[in-house]
Amino acid sequence: MSLSRRKILLGSGVAASSLALGPLGNAAAQEAAPQPFVPHDWKSVRAQFRLRPDLAHLSNFFFASNPTPVRDAITKYRKAFDENPYNFLDDNMFQRDEDMMWRKVCAAAAEYVGGKPNEIALTSSTTMGLALIYNGLRLKPGQEVLTTTHEFYPHHESIRLAVNRWGASTRKIPLYESSLKFSADEAVARIRAAVRPNTRVVGVTWVHSGTGVRLPIGKIAAAIADLNRNRGEADRILLVVDGVHGFGIVDEDVAKMGCDFFSAGTHKWILGPHGTGIVWAKEKNWALLQPTIPSIMTKEPQDAWREDRPPVGPTEASWVSPGGFFAYEHQWATIEAFRFHRQIGRKRVQDRILELNSQIKEGLARMKHVTLHTPLDPELSAGFVCFDVRGYNPKDVVQILRDNRVIASSTPYAVPHVRFSAGIVNFPKDVDMALKVIRSLA
Ligand SMILES: Cc1ncc(COP(=O)(O)O)c(C=O)c1O
Repeated sequence: MSLSRRKILLGSGVAASSLALGPLGNAAAQEAAPQPFVPHDWKSVRAQFRLRPDLAHLSNFFFASNPTPVRDAITKYRKAFDENPYNFLDDNMFQRDEDMMWRKVCAAAAEYVGGKPNEIALTSSTTMGLALIYNGLRLKPGQEVLTTTHEFYPHHESIRLAVNRWGASTRKIPLYESSLKFSADEAVARIRAAVRPNTRVVGVTWVHSGTGVRLPIGKIAAAIADLNRNRGEADRILLVVDGVHGFGIVDEDVAKMGCDFFSAGTHKWILGPHGTGIVWAKEKNWALLQPTIPSIMTKEPQDAWREDRPPVGPTEASWVSPGGFFAYEHQWATIEAFRFHRQIGRKRVQDRILELNSQIKEGLARMKHVTLHTPLDPELSAGFVCFDVRGYNPKDVVQILRDNRVIASSTPYAVPHVRFSAGIVNFPKDVDMALKVIRSLA
């Protein structure tokens, strides 16, 4: 559909010159003085971000804008690396065990997930974590990975590459026909019914970025635990979760949800530095994995190499944490992102995000020219609202929104939709701005 920009620019206050965001945005405008951080005040929370204030940022799921404490930590570490890279890295990574910074990152992540530091591996993204899990799982020929049709590319692709490597197979099932009418019980029942004797892994995504549906991971885990009652340890069904779009929103202890492996980037909803992420798994599950990338986080594999022998002992999380050197100024500053969430409060973060996205859903549900795809129930969704506008393709809607200073996205799946994603940086006025544009497309 081709529409003239004149037709779709709303309001009188929009100056055409300010609409062009340019490839680098408008960074110069963001050098405002630091604002005090008052965790219970959403205005103060927002003031910790350098997001352009003239835009309604409704693609918060994508790549975090970092709050002040995270930016400051990155700057502090980068400065130290620039001044004396050898000693700063050596002192913080390879000297005394208790001084190793990566341990502190694991401790911060463990506190957030309600688990233990030795249950955490540090990655660079959700994708890397999924690849390390599936590639490491030592599947036997004939075993299968059961997954769903709702996964995003990195999950399907990690599975495909791993089953090819191990001589295993994969099968995809839909958990719903209508995402809007999603039923948690039906999804659990579908998984339960689809498991076969040779199913070794069930791979699901906590919050679907193509529809906004949030799966009941605890209930799925309970169903799988039930099926496992009749299975031996070597055939136990393992539940792998791409958790990135629940992590940093949903007020649940990941370590207590009942899944076996959980991968999430910390550069989305956790608001951490770019190129950071974690995998969480219980200690006994780490032993199931063969590391893919040599680790420098732990002594045994390196000692074994020096002594020309295989590493001794079960695989630990730290063995799976990839080396070589990382962007440590980013990896270590993740601690500040977890602290930022803790200061605001995990429940308050969840409630705020659900409330703002509910406001979007309720507004869209009242528009006859809009088809909503995300369940209205906040228990069945999280930080996404996916929808279509009659007569427009999603990319055009996103462009029209951008022309009107609303930052939305279109879902990169086989069937694309328009997607809004409100986060803790938003206010109801951002939602009003977005709804006004969509209303004008009737
Ligand atoms: C469901 C899902 N999984 C994984 C990813 C990729 O995350 P990462 O960039 O951390 O690998 C995305 C990206 O948004 C996603 O939507």
